[in-house]
Amino acid sequence: MKILVINGPNLNMLGIREPEIYGNTTLLNINNELLEFSKQFESVELDFFQSNLEGEIVEKIQKAMNIFDGIIINPAAYTHTSVAITDAIKAVNIPTVEVHLSNIQKREEFRKNSITSSACIGQIAGFGKNSYLAALLCLVKYLKNE
Ligand code: DQA
Repeated sequence: MKILVINGPNLNMLGIREPEIYGNTTLLNINNELLEFSKQFESVELDFFQSNLEGEIVEKIQKAMNIFDGIIINPAAYTHTSVAITDAIKAVNIPTVEVHLSNIQKREEFRKNSITSSACIGQIAGFGKNSYLAALLCLVKYLKNE
């Protein structure tokens, strides 16, 4: 089972960026924790992609077709704006879980609406780096029909 983990703009700045909101963990640490966590599942393979550019994320999602069984995505700021990423997820029809480190419902008004989540099977938000681990657990179980 192959799962693609996509992180959007400014998530390469984790560890430096607003630590009171996003914590002190770097993206590399989160990816390593995900790899460690994935070992409990039989034959789950992870691939990681981060981009600050909407078009690159769209292309990565398109190229995931027929290769990846599932996607975990933190679209970051594009969550609230990107019809293009939403359409790409719908186009490839790969089960996708949306993740946020912060609880977007508890923050500014403009963060409360997620456009991209309308293309996803579910959303996990507010648990910091553990949002990613929860997303992986839920996605693997979903793909295994458990
Ligand atoms: C975020 C929430 C977004 O509103 C914000 O633009 C981010 C990070 C999160 O993980 O909490 O960049 O997706």
